Amino acid sequence: MSLEAEMKRVASLVDGYIKESVKGYPAILYDASYHLLAAGGKRLRPFILLKFHSIYSADESAALPAAAAVELVHNFTLIHDDIMDNDELRRGVPTVHKRFGEAMAILAGDVLFAKAFRLISESQAFRGDPSKLGAAVSELAGSLVTVCEGQALDLNPPRLEDFTEKFYFDMIHRKTSALFEASAVLGCVAGGGGPDAVTKAREYADHLGAAFQLVDDLLGIAGDSSVTGKPVGGDIVQGKRTLPLLIALKLADRGWSETILATWGSRKASQETVDKIVKYIKEIGVEAQVRKLASEHLEQALRSLESFPKGAAVDSLFELANVLTLRRM
Ligand code: IPE
Ligand code: IPE
Ligand code: MG
Ligand code: MG
Repeated sequence: MSLEAEMKRVASLVDGYIKESVKGYPAILYDASYHLLAAGGKRLRPFILLKFHSIYSADESAALPAAAAVELVHNFTLIHDDIMDNDELRRGVPTVHKRFGEAMAILAGDVLFAKAFRLISESQAFRGDPSKLGAAVSELAGSLVTVCEGQALDLNPPRLEDFTEKFYFDMIHRKTSALFEASAVLGCVAGGGGPDAVTKAREYADHLGAAFQLVDDLLGIAGDSSVTGKPVGGDIVQGKRTLPLLIALKLADRGWSETILATWGSRKASQETVDKIVKYIKEIGVEAQVRKLASEHLEQALRSLESFPKGAAVDSLFELANVLTLRRM
């Protein structure tokens, strides 16, 4: 089966589970919680979890609640992230706070967060084994602490002069890789992989997360909104500190770098100016440099898979890393 077809199959299994979990009273709360989930999304984290699980276990269904849980947690972070970033569009639909108001969006995120932990605690893969359950809860909770730290760094970044590549990689390790890692580790633990496997799974997810966020940040500047579902140059007017920005400033001539700096973080900037900057950034070769860094992380992610037993599950993880690093959406 192609990766695309396999991702669809997994997404539909996970979605069935999620649909049953995200409902209740009052309807408005669950409508708000389900709004983004219904709008799509790649379901990457459940996919990673289920594939690591499948390396060790043929019983995919035993890991489904955990797979649903990591997607709920992911959507919780997205709902709150869109409030923090004041974004209006995600997955091609109005964000939860735009549609339901900020207060309800906060609650919608909270309920997904809580339901995720309930799913873990009820999960067949962990329930029979207290040490596995403990490891799973600690991993997922720990990853969310790390995500909060990463988000705090993202919200309160250093001045541009002090913003370095090192800072960027530390930030994205926290805000993005952490949940990829938890997904990989939960899959491994649920399936019965040992400590060495967990270490390698973590390594894979960490590098995949870095490659993925690098590409995401590239698209945040130079992506096509009809494909990404997000506004063109969104990260520019928001003044996001990203590595593509740092590279753009390094490559830009003086006049342009002044224009970029003046527009960065200025929500009042006209779309025309933003479009001009986006066009310039595309011309000076920022993309090639970012994609080169992303492929270095890709290589490391792929190397981490070498020690796992060969088979369809590892093949999927291999292909997933390739596809995500090359993606244009
Ligand atoms: C978006 O994650 C947020 C980041 C960590 C960059 P995804 O790109 O996995 O979002 P969906 O779930 O497919 O919408
Ligand atoms: C999202 O980061 C990371 C988390 C939700 C933890 P961004 O703010 O960079 O991602 P997008 O562009 O909104 O998806
Ligand atoms: Mg955001
Ligand atoms: Mg953000």
